Amino acid sequence: MKPLFALSWPCVCVCLALTVAPFWSSSADAVEIETADDIQIYTLKNDSGMTVRVTNYGAIIMSIVVPDRDGKMADVALGYNDIASYTNAVDKPYFGAVVGRYGNRIAKGKFTIDDQEYTLAINNPPNSLHGGIIGFDKVIWDGKVDDEANAVTLSYLAKDGEEGYPGNLNCSVTYRLTDDNAIEVDYFATTDKATPINLTQHTYFNLKGEGEGTILEHELMINARRYTPVDETLIPTGKTPAVQGTPFDFTTAKPIGRDIAADNEQLKFGGGYDHNWVLDKGGQTGEMTLAATVYEPTSGRVLEISTTEPGIQFYSGNFLDGRLTGKSGKKYVHRGGFCLETQHYPDSPNQPTFPSTILEPDDEYETKTVFKFTTR
Ligand code: BGC
Repeated sequence: MKPLFALSWPCVCVCLALTVAPFWSSSADAVEIETADDIQIYTLKNDSGMTVRVTNYGAIIMSIVVPDRDGKMADVALGYNDIASYTNAVDKPYFGAVVGRYGNRIAKGKFTIDDQEYTLAINNPPNSLHGGIIGFDKVIWDGKVDDEANAVTLSYLAKDGEEGYPGNLNCSVTYRLTDDNAIEVDYFATTDKATPINLTQHTYFNLKGEGEGTILEHELMINARRYTPVDETLIPTGKTPAVQGTPFDFTTAKPIGRDIAADNEQLKFGGGYDHNWVLDKGGQTGEMTLAATVYEPTSGRVLEISTTEPGIQFYSGNFLDGRLTGKSGKKYVHRGGFCLETQHYPDSPNQPTFPSTILEPDDEYETKTVFKFTTR
């Protein structure tokens, strides 16, 4: 296994680009673009003054600036102002990135398709996490702006055998900012060999503003009556028990911190919440459903997440520990951000009872997630 801190070629390109080349700005069109060599940073703005900054490095959302109930703006996404800080961050937290080819864990880095066993790097022992050592969060995507739609599409060709996965996978993610303060995220992919795929967005939110303490007082509702408990290595057991009567019951909104310290084996395994919920789809598999709502009482900001996906990973920022200092110079404390990653369930390629994540050559992978911001 390669050491985690090894510099990959994309990292080297990025570091060079950032040390030798200034960024050039162009703002004649709706979407503002800053360019330095292969790296672009796109700023989407809407009529309500909301802005979203996105880069083609890792398809990362670098910032989301939204109003509170009094119209005061704050950046609610953890991360950095420059690409080098993303590549240098200790423990690689995947701030804002698209993770792939397979978001979350595959047990022991192994799966079998059509009697052929595939082996992935064990980058989160004893498992493979978030697509491997150089996942989609650490590669350079091709960017294309659609000014009329106020959108940017990022495309990436993952080669057959890259990180151990089969098939040339052509994929894209489109970020569109609407005038009603929603970020629409559309994923699309095709392959020339059957492959697992599970793309998701790994933004860490703090609706008070990035760096403004913990997220424990945020009130979370997850539209799910079941979840997928895990073993001590965070691989699902395959069961989907009811959340009712457990700390995992977010069917009615409650502060994230209310039950997080409960004496519960699952919470011990995750160091807090780090689990997948089975969304209540009302029989509407593949249709948009409300997956989660988060309300932050001091600012009044509300985040509503809808998706076509069957699951959502709620990760309460358990591995943040104050070592990382974010874009405005504030430390990212333990549980200083949460992720709500719409997805298929972890380890699906090895779990026959979970919805399939195998994309066949004659199929199209198409999923959608919307992050909508309002206030209360
Ligand atoms: C995973 C966590 C992991 C985090 C950062 C989340 O999606 O569920 O276990 O630590 O990403 O890598």
